[in-house]
Amino acid sequence: MRILMIGSGGREHALIKTLKKSPKVTEIICAPGNGGISRDAECFPIPVIDKQKILELAVERKVDLVFVAPEDPLNDGLVDLLEQHGIRAFGPNSRAAQIEASKAFAKNLMKKYKIPTADFEVFNDPELALGFVKQRNKYPVVVKADGLALGKGVVICHNLAEAENAINEIMVNRIFGDSGNKVVVEEYITGPEVSVLAFCDGNTIKPMVSAMDHKPVFDGNKGPNTGGMGTISPNPFYTEEIANECMEKIFLPTVNALKAEGRPFKGCIFFGLMLTQDGPKVVEYNCRFGDPETQVVLLRLKTDLVDIINAVIDGELDKINIEWDERAAACIIMASGGYPGSYKKGLEITGLDQNGQVEGATVFHAGTIYDGAFKTNGGRVLGVSALGQTLDEALERAYSAVEKICFKGAHFRRDIGRVYNSR
Ligand code: AMP
Ligand code: GLY
Repeated sequence: MRILMIGSGGREHALIKTLKKSPKVTEIICAPGNGGISRDAECFPIPVIDKQKILELAVERKVDLVFVAPEDPLNDGLVDLLEQHGIRAFGPNSRAAQIEASKAFAKNLMKKYKIPTADFEVFNDPELALGFVKQRNKYPVVVKADGLALGKGVVICHNLAEAENAINEIMVNRIFGDSGNKVVVEEYITGPEVSVLAFCDGNTIKPMVSAMDHKPVFDGNKGPNTGGMGTISPNPFYTEEIANECMEKIFLPTVNALKAEGRPFKGCIFFGLMLTQDGPKVVEYNCRFGDPETQVVLLRLKTDLVDIINAVIDGELDKINIEWDERAAACIIMASGGYPGSYKKGLEITGLDQNGQVEGATVFHAGTIYDGAFKTNGGRVLGVSALGQTLDEALERAYSAVEKICFKGAHFRRDIGRVYNSR
């Protein structure tokens, strides 16, 4: 089997390393990839949103499968285009990807099908949105841009002035462009957050092992939110009892809702959950594998990922048994100094072997390039990951590998898996 991976982050590197373990895979290529990925797969400098070029590459290289990992091309209909040309693709079509691409769509779906989530109203007029915030007069209140905003479209507002500013930035100054045509004004909820990824073939859903992300940039959950500074799996808050409740009240109802709406979801669906005092609630859906959740979850996958992908595409997920490693996994993100603000690129990374690895851990590359040496090329640079009999052991292994890697200004959190993301 020849596979084309679309994307360039740590998530894609983890997917490629997992797929390489399959005896069924003969070749993996990637567009555009990164420095670390280039040691595992031939990379092509095609942007993920260039549908036509990706189609041409898939045809030219006679690939048997295209794996579309990021949300932008999924929303933009890359899977639809590939399927129209008879090419097998993993990922939802554009209609199903709306579950992530439009928060208004996702929230209205949850309301219609009684899937637990924070109370909300949707507005396409800034005056009406502000009027609602004023009349509601309860803080914090959460203001969200409707569309994709690189994970930055959520503002937790502590007073009217902050809410007014958020609504203005999103809807009037349009800092996220068309993604700010609508806003969702939402009730603020609290509790530990859990990430659950699940395989779904349109009918059957099979959740993967749980994970916990750490979004704030600094230790103690301080500072601005990032794409994620580290993950652990399993999530210690996610008991079997809660997992059963989520299956019954959230996972199955979501799959059935999408089916009933004529948008059957095939691919990986990501549930961002909050365990509130009133039970688990959906904070967000993503239409794809999470980053850096994938790095820890896939380290624990024992079943051949190719078999699962085929079952998802062929609608036969009910026929496959997915097995997981009982061990714990941890991933520490090494980021560029300054991230999530501005940062330098092109700084040499030392301590990695020629494959971009360090003994005792698996290093998933995110923002790197390779030109004979590994250099930084993004905000999140590396995801240094390890398995262990216990969470402590996994963390110890990952952190001792981090200590061997160096680049100027490197920043990482020292408390991943130690401070839970409970607010
Ligand atoms: P999202 O981009 O939707 O995942 O939101 C980013 C983060 O904002 C989440 O991980 C939560 O920590 C926080 N958040 C989003 N919605 C709410 C809410 N209704 N109440 C409290 N926190 C929220
Ligand atoms: N780690 C959350 C995400 O991938 O959006």
